[in-house]
Amino acid sequence: MVYKIGIIGAGVIGRLRARTIHANPKTQLTAVFDPDQAAATRAVSGSAIPVTTLETFFEQPLDAVIISSPVHLHAEASLEAFRRGLHVLCEKPMANTVDGCRQMVAAAVAADRVLAVGFNQRLLPSMQYIREILDAGTIGEIDHIRLFGGHDGLANFRADWQYRVPESGGGATMDIGIHMADFGRYFLGDITEVYAVTSERTWQLPGSEDNAIAIFRNPEGIPASYHATWNEWAGFRVAVEVYGRLGMVRGSYGPMRNTLITHERPGARRHTTRKFYPEVILRERLQSWEVTTQMSFAEELATFLLRIEGTTGGALADGHDGLRSVEVAYAMRESSAAHQVIQLPPLGPMR
Ligand SMILES: NC(=O)c1ccc[n+]([C@@H]2O[C@H](COP(=O)([O-])OP(=O)(O)OC[C@H]3O[C@@H](n4cnc5c(N)ncnc54)[C@H](O)[C@@H]3O)[C@@H](O)[C@H]2O)c1
Repeated sequence: MVYKIGIIGAGVIGRLRARTIHANPKTQLTAVFDPDQAAATRAVSGSAIPVTTLETFFEQPLDAVIISSPVHLHAEASLEAFRRGLHVLCEKPMANTVDGCRQMVAAAVAADRVLAVGFNQRLLPSMQYIREILDAGTIGEIDHIRLFGGHDGLANFRADWQYRVPESGGGATMDIGIHMADFGRYFLGDITEVYAVTSERTWQLPGSEDNAIAIFRNPEGIPASYHATWNEWAGFRVAVEVYGRLGMVRGSYGPMRNTLITHERPGARRHTTRKFYPEVILRERLQSWEVTTQMSFAEELATFLLRIEGTTGGALADGHDGLRSVEVAYAMRESSAAHQVIQLPPLGPMR
């Protein structure tokens, strides 16, 4: 079967998504909606048509939609897609409010359709290496993890909705930090306890924190330290470290790299393995970061199709992953304001 896919929002990410659909023999790009006619036209390929109204978009024959519009528009577009019986792959953050995310989950369940969220950083080679090491039990039971994501702030944004509340839903926690909250769930399991200190001292944008430093815990009490920042002056960097009784594994992007340190028991001789991904670094030097992102989008699209066909598991984030990451972002601000730990009820995977 060839899946007819439409795109809502044809900016930088929408255009990359369009290329990914074009490159997959199991998908056909049917329509691209963007109120900016030039943007919609730039993204189309093959027989796809560019449209500038949602009504015309949804009149096209579609099996699924990819939503890559500004975040405050995700919920409304998703709800309409589910009403029409379509599957949805929505960019992160899933919505700019917790309520919006909950409505999307409820609509997906009511329509019995797949809701996936674009946490493509899970699919970066350095992060998949961590997943493999954890699945193999190489570092033993997890003791704690460290999550860091940062960039140098406002120069990275092209539009107000990307960093100003209410559209953005918050600052660093809803931007690069949303991937870090998701990594917490991906590597540690459900995040059910949040304590945080957030601040707006650098960019001084009310409601858009430029730093969030937090401790999360999963239901077994295993902690993660978290730092999302908009004043990482050296530039974009993401790093995850997982520590176990038998060693540690570290994965980063900016640059893509892994370190694995293992020992048979604490105190015994250590073995270190390093991975450097020169092909990724060279490709990004010669072309751009977009190549790495597009590779992750290609894998995400392939797993989205498998999910539609009924396969569960894998690295694709579902609606509950998207919801929990936004709940965690909001909980961090609440915790910081109240100087209190915020409890979140356990939230398993979507069925
Ligand atoms: N997964 C990732 O790596 C990643 C990276 C960056 C951004 N994102 C997410 O992707 C989404 C799009 O970000 P972007 O960087 O492409 O932004 P962008 O500004 O480049 O593109 C947004 C597009 O949406 C269009 N738009 C405006 N109003 C619309 C509406 N009512 N309906 C549909 N489209 C509308 C704009 O005309 C524009 O073309 C956001 O949710 C963002 O958070 C994801």
